[in-house]
Amino acid sequence: MLIGLREKLLRAQTKFQPYMVDGVPRRVRETFKRYDEIRGYGGYLKRCQKACKRPIPQTNSSLIANHYDLIDVFSNDEAETLRKEAFSLSDDFDYRRGKENKATLKVPDGAFFDKVLEQVFSDETDARLLEYFGSEYVPFWCGMEQTEVSTANKRAFLWHCDKGPSKWAKVLLYFTSVADTGGNSVLIDAKTTDAISALDYTFGPAKERTSDLAELAKQHDIDFEPMSFDVKAGQALLFEPARLLHHGQLPNKAPRTIMQILILPSPRPWREALARLRNADLASRNDFSFPSHARDLEAVLR
Ligand SMILES: [Fe+2]
Repeated sequence: MLIGLREKLLRAQTKFQPYMVDGVPRRVRETFKRYDEIRGYGGYLKRCQKACKRPIPQTNSSLIANHYDLIDVFSNDEAETLRKEAFSLSDDFDYRRGKENKATLKVPDGAFFDKVLEQVFSDETDARLLEYFGSEYVPFWCGMEQTEVSTANKRAFLWHCDKGPSKWAKVLLYFTSVADTGGNSVLIDAKTTDAISALDYTFGPAKERTSDLAELAKQHDIDFEPMSFDVKAGQALLFEPARLLHHGQLPNKAPRTIMQILILPSPRPWREALARLRNADLASRNDFSFPSHARDLEAVLR
C-alpha cells in the first residue's frame, strides 16, 4: 500500500485508540510507527545491526545514558578557519521560504564536509555511535547554517522533538561560541520530555510549538529545568533529537553558525556509505529530510 495512504489510516486509527498504551502517548506511538514500520526504518536498523562486522564497544557515554553528549571536535581557531572557508565556498543562502530563523549555506557536498566529518567521527565518537546504533552509521546529510540576531522564534527555535524513526542521532557542530553570539541549543532530560509528551505536546503540529513550556510544566507539577551548555566554537552537541525535547536559542549578539549532521544506521562504514550516497544523489539529501522509505537508502548502501 502507498505510504501516504497507510499513514492516513494510521492517523485515523490512532484517534480511536486509547490515549496512552503501555505508557506511550499517542503522538509518540504514531510517529515511531510511521517511520519504524510504514517507512521501514525499524527493519532497516535490524539488518544494519546484523551486517555489522565490528565488535560493539561499551563506552559508558552520556549519549547512551542521557541521550546527549558534548564532544570536542576542533580548536577555536580551527573552527573559525573552517567557518570562513564555508562562507567562501557558499555563493548563496537557502532561506527555506522564510519559515525558519536559519539560512542554509550552499556549500558543495565534497571536500569541505569530508574534512569536517573526519574530525567529527574521531575514534571516541565513532565508538559512541557504534554502540548507540549497534551497527555502522552514515552522515546522511550535512548542512551549514547561519542564524542572524533576532527575537522572533520560529520552528527549530520553539520546543520540539524532530520527527523520524525511534533510532537516529544528530550532531550540532558549533562554529561560533555561545559567549560571542548568545546563540545556543537548549534541551530537557528524558524524564521531563516523557512528562511533557504525556500532555500530548511532543510530535504535535509545527504550528502548535511554543517557546515556553515552563507554564505548562508548572500547571502539571512537572520539574522543568532546561539544560544548555557554554558551547565553544569547535564543540558539538551529539544527541537524539526524537527522544529529547529541545530548541535553538536565538543569538542576541552576533550571528550563530552551526553545522547539522543527520546520522542514520548503515550496513557499511560511513566513508564507503557516504561515497555511495554522493553517487546516488538522493533528493532527500538535498532537502535535508529522510528518504521517504528506508528501502531507498538501503538500495544505495547495501
Ligand atoms: Fe530539532
